[in-house]
Amino acid sequence: MSKKLTNWLAAGACCLSMASQAQEPMTRIEIDSTRPGATINRDIYGQFAEHLGRGIYGGIWVGEDSDIDNIHGFRTDVIEALRDIRVPLVRWPGGCFADEYRWRDGIGPRDARPVRVNTHWGGVPEDNAFGTHEFFELVELLGADAYVNGNLGTGNPREMAEWLEYMTGDSQSAVVEERRRNGREEPWDVAYFGVGNEAWGCGGHMRPEYYSDLYNHFATFLKTPRGSEPKFVASGGHTADTEWTDVLSKNIQRQMDGISFHFYTLPTGEWDDKGESTGFGEDQWASTLWQTLRMDEFIRNNKKVLDKNDPENEIGFYVDEWGTWYNPEEGREPGFLYQQNTLRDALVAALNFNIFHRHADRVRMTNIAQMVNVLQAMILTDGEEMVLTPTYHTYGMYKVFQDATSLPLEIGNLHSYQQGGKTLPAVSASAARGKDGQLYLSLVNLDPGAAQQVAVDVKGAEISGATGQLLTAGAMDARNTFDDPDSVEPAGYNASADSGNLVLEIPAKSVLVVSLK
Ligand code: AHR
Repeated sequence: MSKKLTNWLAAGACCLSMASQAQEPMTRIEIDSTRPGATINRDIYGQFAEHLGRGIYGGIWVGEDSDIDNIHGFRTDVIEALRDIRVPLVRWPGGCFADEYRWRDGIGPRDARPVRVNTHWGGVPEDNAFGTHEFFELVELLGADAYVNGNLGTGNPREMAEWLEYMTGDSQSAVVEERRRNGREEPWDVAYFGVGNEAWGCGGHMRPEYYSDLYNHFATFLKTPRGSEPKFVASGGHTADTEWTDVLSKNIQRQMDGISFHFYTLPTGEWDDKGESTGFGEDQWASTLWQTLRMDEFIRNNKKVLDKNDPENEIGFYVDEWGTWYNPEEGREPGFLYQQNTLRDALVAALNFNIFHRHADRVRMTNIAQMVNVLQAMILTDGEEMVLTPTYHTYGMYKVFQDATSLPLEIGNLHSYQQGGKTLPAVSASAARGKDGQLYLSLVNLDPGAAQQVAVDVKGAEISGATGQLLTAGAMDARNTFDDPDSVEPAGYNASADSGNLVLEIPAKSVLVVSLK
């Protein structure tokens, strides 16, 4: 491979060395299969389910008496669809909701559970029908792990400690016996436990120094039987901030396995007019993808801080909320954060996965916001109807990367895509060796107007072809609806090497995942 190659890992330099189409038309990718990198933790493909809008009630939980087909109150259609994309982890109950949640409201007989008001999201009644036992049944149905987010904002250390004891305890204590009386003999596994959420904002508008002290205080009392400790998550910063990562990684003295980070993709970058989920022009196609690519820089900057404060690499950087956030749809309750999901969202997901793979050494867990009916959802429902979004299909295509081993990859002759004053790379890529031993390559063509030809070379392996799935559509805002549910779905893709040279044609605005044979 030529020395002109752009090192894709040095993303900051990528745009300077992009080739013009006239000079060198063919993008070149070289994968080094002889230098395995970090494991792509399957928890990078985690999901977030908050008590927000129809995210849980109506979207996942309909109750046992519902006319909608259900398994113990959980929608059968939604559960089956989520099983197919192999959801590894679910974060619950929030988000902002977590810092007002009283866990005791959600245990015991459902008809005796108190009604509260969901003050963050629409001011609607919360009847607590979905609580701790229901959450663990959900993750068991999905074959996923549990990420429970504790209440630091309005709770106290005893409440938080007793919730963890209720879930994980195996003693004869009153709290554990209460769980047994409520129908669960064995403790559950809590894979991750979050100590508060967005402490800089809805979680209490704190300074990182103050939050660090509170974290140390609360975490002192978080105890589990030996061998069943969750990974403890401190609530970190967002967007361009690195101060939270710095202060937390210096000041927190108690067990902290990861620092969380939130970044939402807004087409305009402005919270008061974010941009629309459909009917957008090419300028907002490009600005959305440009915004989402900033994730790379944010992770890179936070990693630098962690590499300084935690050279042993013990603290993970968990992006436990990410995804697109658009203006509320006309006629819908704005506090429910329901939005349509198009081919553009599918590319946003794929671009973020490629970034997370690149930083798999620190980014060991992420949760897209959110799983059903909220923000960049996998699934939209309306009554008994259900539709799978383009984002869902990206998750399905990328599941081969769960627990795969990342491989270094270089891109040469990278073309640029320019629109509305933004310059983006036309192609994003990632490669790994799957748990099944196969070599996998993911490619995204960001340009909505031009196909890309990509020559693929693998150091350490002879490649004769590629086979996999391609996701694309005619329009930038192509979507699946209840009336037309299969408008955007993956199609089979095959390519063969010619005289030892493998060239992949990636259509405009598409996501491709192939195994290389
Ligand atoms: O995902 C919606 C909200 O976004 C979450 O509740 C909060 O943590 C973030 O601000």
